[in-house]
Amino acid sequence: MELCGASALAWRSSILPAFHSSHRPASVCEFRRFRVWCVKTDVNGVSQGNPMTVSITGATGFIGSKLVQRLYEDNHSICVLTRSKVKAESIFPVKDFPGIVIAEEPQWKDCIQGSTGVVNLAGLPISTRWSPEIKKEIKQSRIRVTSKVVDLINNSPSDARPTVLVSATAVGYYGTSETQVFDEQSPSGNDYLAEVCREWEGTALGVDKDVRLALIRIGVVLGKDGGALAKMIPIFMMFAGGPLGSGKQWFSWIHVDDLVNLLYKALLNSSYKGVINGTAPNPVRLAEMCQHLGTVMGRPSWLPVPDLALKAVLGEGATVVLEGQKVIPVRAKELGFSYKYPYIKEALKALLAQKVVA
Ligand SMILES: NC(=O)c1ccc[n+]([C@@H]2O[C@H](COP(=O)([O-])OP(=O)(O)OC[C@H]3O[C@@H](n4cnc5c(N)ncnc54)[C@H](OP(=O)(O)O)[C@@H]3O)[C@@H](O)[C@H]2O)c1
Repeated sequence: MELCGASALAWRSSILPAFHSSHRPASVCEFRRFRVWCVKTDVNGVSQGNPMTVSITGATGFIGSKLVQRLYEDNHSICVLTRSKVKAESIFPVKDFPGIVIAEEPQWKDCIQGSTGVVNLAGLPISTRWSPEIKKEIKQSRIRVTSKVVDLINNSPSDARPTVLVSATAVGYYGTSETQVFDEQSPSGNDYLAEVCREWEGTALGVDKDVRLALIRIGVVLGKDGGALAKMIPIFMMFAGGPLGSGKQWFSWIHVDDLVNLLYKALLNSSYKGVINGTAPNPVRLAEMCQHLGTVMGRPSWLPVPDLALKAVLGEGATVVLEGQKVIPVRAKELGFSYKYPYIKEALKALLAQKVVA
């Protein structure tokens, strides 16, 4: 339900573009003077009417750009924390996103001080060929950005300090298994991705105790225009969409809209703290996922897709898909989080029916 909106948006559009084009980000105070707040309720029936100012690292990525869109539609103030203003401005053009602040690293401090919440999503993509240098950067990029964000939050004056940090991590934390079931209490695995996740989470845990920390252990995020699925679809087209490898591997997935809702709820709701698995409640074995994908795409699913083909597009990052883990979102269920797409078939149907916006 929305109680205001069109008029508020129009008013905002007419006032805020000047801030966007400025060389320095508009200060949070400038923002607050001009905001008009709408009262909305989300899919979980919770009011999203409280105005937030949210700083987001990795905002230009697959998940981050959808989170920005969602928060923007609900009239929250957003600071995009990026390495490249030019890139961010091409993703969030001022004509479509008037009022969004885009900040390169020297300005992150100004954004974080005065934000009500911070979302930390940045990191070098893992779906690449893993040379020793790349492996190092996969880990270091996450630790570097998280450490910077944590320091900036901890060093903010108490009256301008964000009250919540929502920080990404991944189900790779648990390692891989065809037989075990993992929830938030499960121990970490002993492979490379588990090590990355442990250190990434450990860095986020350095945030001061008076700041609520939600660590979202994200599964394979399904979206049509990004992530693993976007890369898999063309291969499925080529190979008629059969199973990958043995097909017995677990695939702990989440529809991107549900993940964005979960991140949003974690910002808003003080009960969302500690580790929360960002996965759908019904993980599937890879053969089942491939079968549904084949059906939804109108392709027969009898010809196995060779591991090599997937590795060619996902690099060693394909291990996330080829050697999975069964992860159950116990905390999200306890918190009463409502999934729009609890089942893979409906999630894939909805995604493949979507038109990709260029
Ligand atoms: N997508 C998934 O299925 C999935 C699953 C589990 C976990 N996750 C985690 O969730 C986070 C967001 O995922 P995503 O799919 O949206 O990622 P993405 O599309 O690859 O975007 C990540 C963002 O991180 C920043 N970045 C890239 N390389 C960097 C580097 N070397 N140093 C610092 N920042 C860098 C970039 O922002 P700027 O260029 O603007 O700085 C980029 O837009 C990632 O940390 C990812 O590991 C994703």
